[in-house]
Amino acid sequence: MKPIQVGLLGIGTVGSGTFNVLKRNQEEITRRAGRGIEITMVADLDVARAQAVVGAGVQVVNDARAVIANPDIDIVIELIGGYGIAKALVLEAIAAGKHVVTANKALLAVHGTEIFAAAQAKGVMVAFEAAVAGGIPIIKALREGLTANQIQWVAGIINGTTNFILSEMRDKGLDFDVVLKEAQRLGYAEADPTFDIEGVDAAHKATLMSAIAYGIPVQFDKAYVEGITQLGAADIKYAEQLGYRIKLLGIAKRAAKGIELRVHPTLVPAKRLIANVEGAMNAVMVQGDAVGTTLYYGKGAGSEPTASAVIADLVDITRLHTADPQNRVPHLAFQPGALSDLPVLPMSEVVTSYYLRLRVADQAGVLATVTGILGQAGISIDAVLQREAAEGENQTDVIILTHGTREGSMDAAIAQMQALPTVLAPITRIRKEELA
Ligand code: HSE
Repeated sequence: MKPIQVGLLGIGTVGSGTFNVLKRNQEEITRRAGRGIEITMVADLDVARAQAVVGAGVQVVNDARAVIANPDIDIVIELIGGYGIAKALVLEAIAAGKHVVTANKALLAVHGTEIFAAAQAKGVMVAFEAAVAGGIPIIKALREGLTANQIQWVAGIINGTTNFILSEMRDKGLDFDVVLKEAQRLGYAEADPTFDIEGVDAAHKATLMSAIAYGIPVQFDKAYVEGITQLGAADIKYAEQLGYRIKLLGIAKRAAKGIELRVHPTLVPAKRLIANVEGAMNAVMVQGDAVGTTLYYGKGAGSEPTASAVIADLVDITRLHTADPQNRVPHLAFQPGALSDLPVLPMSEVVTSYYLRLRVADQAGVLATVTGILGQAGISIDAVLQREAAEGENQTDVIILTHGTREGSMDAAIAQMQALPTVLAPITRIRKEELA
């Protein structure tokens, strides 16, 4: 059978990896897919560099629309990124009847509803394994491997840059700003790292996972997003003393009245496998009612790890290309007509436990007043750690771990404690998950 023909939009790090792995493993991929898969056309603004990557046998153009207009192209891979031109090109490719493979989490998390509806109407597939956790096949696991389950929660380290920074902060006892500069120097963090360190990239990925875990539309605008820029070395050290590590987690959880969708630094028991995921690696835990807890670990970025996910999508599409669209795996795992309107809960309705650090005057009755406020609010204390005041100092840190409570109740209690004249600095609050 004639090989399926693929057009590639953007041949940077992931595009080159995709081209090289497809070529290197051509024979095995063909045996798996049932027919050959060939990148026959590439669009990139730097035509000379792109041509050098793919060699003389592949047509390279600087106009992505020329790829979409080519009637021989069956699948378009979008590796441009962002919401701008990438959105227009993906919609144009769909309108031209092409299947689309994309690693663009930002595009799908924000405009997924429009894009999946367009693909549905046109009977084409939009595949996005590479958009979440790079080479880890977590989309496949959630959408297919765990399809028997009611998913109770998904919690993942889904941003390598921030995990690298947090690992370095813990290992070396350094503050965020120092480690960020070092990460940029080593190439682990982008020159503009905003999306990574502010938690936006992780929230894009968590949004996609929430949609396929619960059969709800993609709703990035409802996600709670908090990054790691405010984390101090002291909190990492105190967490360690209490038996926890701090990780930036993307969490999607089924609650009684809706879905929790949140990204924030989180205390995780040090004994959990996921707490020991270090450096730029990614890991995702999924708990289903039938399977129990499962864990997926691997590289969340990089040329060939991400290419591995892109090519998995190419193979899936090649296998299902001739199937009746009704018989394909639905984009968001649930049939398009069966999506749920279960709401994404506001943060005030989320229930979790907390680590609080209060800088307080070291005098009689302070701890009693603070714990009194928590008690009045119905917030149960799990542990308290008070450091001895340093020589000659009359203030100290009090660390409190709480049991599960509604975020709205905690907000009110924090406001009350903050107003005490004996609380001398802004209270640090970090959420805590046992992931048991
Ligand atoms: N910037 C991401 C990370 C990789 O640091 O994990 C691409 O999503």
